[in-house]
Amino acid sequence: MITKYTYGNPFQTDAVVQKLEVQNGNVPYFTVVKTEEQLQFEYTLENEEKVYGLGENVRGINKRGWIYKSCCADEPNHVEDRTSLYASHNFLVLDGGKEQFGVFFDYPGIITFDVGYTHLNELKITLSEPDADVYVMTGESILDIVKQFRQLIGRSYIPPKWAFGYQQSRWGYMNEDDIREVVKGHREKKIPLESIYMDIDYMERFKDFTVNQERFPDFPEFVKEMKAQHIHLVPIIDAGVKVEEGYDVYEEGIEKGYFCKKENGEYFVAGVWPGKVHFPDVLNKEAREWFGNKYQVLLDQGIEGFWNDMNEPSIFFAQDRMDETFDKIAELKDKNLDLDTFQQFTGLVGSLANNTDDFKKFYHNVDGKMMRHDKVHNLFGYNMTRAAGEAFERLSPEKRILMFSRSSYIGMHRYGGIWTGDNKSWWNHLLLNLRMMPSLNMVGILYTGADIGGFGADATEDLVMRWIQLAMFSPLMRNHSAMGTRKQEVYRFDHVEEFRKIINIRYGLLAYIYSEYMKSALNSEMYFKPLSFVYTDDEFASQVEDQLLVGDSLMIAPVYNQNAKGRYVYLPEEMAMLRFRGVDDYDTEILPAGHHYVEAGLFEMLVFVRPDKILVLTDGGEYADEVDCDHVKALAFVKTKAEYVWYEDDGMGKDYENPDNYGRITIEKGGNCVYTGSREKKIEVKLL
Ligand code: NOJ
Repeated sequence: MITKYTYGNPFQTDAVVQKLEVQNGNVPYFTVVKTEEQLQFEYTLENEEKVYGLGENVRGINKRGWIYKSCCADEPNHVEDRTSLYASHNFLVLDGGKEQFGVFFDYPGIITFDVGYTHLNELKITLSEPDADVYVMTGESILDIVKQFRQLIGRSYIPPKWAFGYQQSRWGYMNEDDIREVVKGHREKKIPLESIYMDIDYMERFKDFTVNQERFPDFPEFVKEMKAQHIHLVPIIDAGVKVEEGYDVYEEGIEKGYFCKKENGEYFVAGVWPGKVHFPDVLNKEAREWFGNKYQVLLDQGIEGFWNDMNEPSIFFAQDRMDETFDKIAELKDKNLDLDTFQQFTGLVGSLANNTDDFKKFYHNVDGKMMRHDKVHNLFGYNMTRAAGEAFERLSPEKRILMFSRSSYIGMHRYGGIWTGDNKSWWNHLLLNLRMMPSLNMVGILYTGADIGGFGADATEDLVMRWIQLAMFSPLMRNHSAMGTRKQEVYRFDHVEEFRKIINIRYGLLAYIYSEYMKSALNSEMYFKPLSFVYTDDEFASQVEDQLLVGDSLMIAPVYNQNAKGRYVYLPEEMAMLRFRGVDDYDTEILPAGHHYVEAGLFEMLVFVRPDKILVLTDGGEYADEVDCDHVKALAFVKTKAEYVWYEDDGMGKDYENPDNYGRITIEKGGNCVYTGSREKKIEVKLL
């Protein structure tokens, strides 16, 4: 059951899609403290109570023991003492206390979630204004609560099937030849590859919706050349529009008044990659439509996917603050340089980038009403991606377009996925990647993944290998790195054959991964689940923060420590372990419930099949279209009768509700297999 409570006069974020009656009175469970300035929700946590949720964030799956802040930030240091990353996902589920419930604070300004930070047993949520819609959910289980919430916020974004392939990116592919070299590196060694990402350097002076003519003299032709090799090019789009006379997007935006303005009516000027930029006012309906239509220029050249970046929005500097800073520094220059003036100097310069005070300096025109940005800050990335998503519905109604964003708010999950931003080539970021996935699924973000191998810092071959073994299961499987760091395309390493074999397993798993993704999206379910959400009576399961359930049949336990030759795994029930080296190179072992140490050498990946479940596995391929899903092996761990509901479609259209998309495999103890479905299948049974 979901109940809605309204405080004050909240801004309509369009996060939810269901209209609910507002309940009188205060939300249950919490002590509510309302002042003219803010709203506070206080709750006493039981010792064993768990707090799940908050989507993209640092730390564990159970969020207890830290303070988090919803304030979308360009934060490249994903370390334990951060409070915000790029997103705001204000949804929590409390489990193990007097009552189990979920709560969503639909408020687009800054919120803090003190989850037992100030006092171990106190949860205190502070909204920086007294206006919000708050939804409280109760249900039979955590999964039931999450499902109700997901239905409340609407169906998750569905990408084209090719977007489940292995993708390669790097900030620094400058021109056609750089891209050709990377494609060749993969294709020559038969390492599967689906797409190449184009970072900001493909543009003309970092101007959105332009292509640099020197670097890409005939872009539509180049797109075709890549497609002939089954490679999709995916360009980046940044939030800021370069201020430049003669640049059509800039001039049109000025003419129509579609950029964010200051209180005095002048356009707000920020500095990002292109130098001075204006921000398109994506909270304004017409401006959003206008900006979204701009993607057409690239769709027309054969592009089928995009990533939206810098949309917190990231502000390297605000022009006004920069001007003031120069004046203040000039004053300091005349003084005697002592420690105090030196500190003032570094303080001034250090506070230029992403200064939250700048959020108070510009406005959005929402239905004629000027909204100060800080009050709706967390909606910017959401609405930039919504601009694109709504435009794709108009421009390409029949065909799915790949879209994912860096910044997000709940609601954006209907228009695109996210990647988790600028992580580092650190082993603990591999673990952080794992922990973020289920929390993101809780808020509807299913198409997601981290930069494989890490974005910042130098990656090592073993880190990339282990990371691929985890990312094997994330819907977005993209190797991306920063300019200046060690190159980490897998063909550059010593063990190319092992990389080929490992990445091909992804293609062997594609039928399963796609089917599970689609069922999760269509049924408002989680694709990645923590063990504690399923094995609810198992006290130990709630402590497991380094294993996940993937879809209906599998549990994964990746190795995330350097030089480890295996790891401890907890099995809440008997399972069939597969130790994969390649798609047709694996050994199997039935393990009883309990704790185990299992070996997994660097080139070995562990997968566990649950009892009475089936994994469908193909021979793989070099790209998604090459995978033959009509000839599969059904790896079944049969205790009484194993079943699998298999979703398939053409992978690019939108005929999701067609009952013909579903097939069912049933395998009995002796291996007798029955398949019902509309497609012809050759199924080879492998009993585990
Ligand atoms: C920041 C993004 O997070 C990163 O992925 C990208 O490579 C750089 N911007 C450059 O565009």
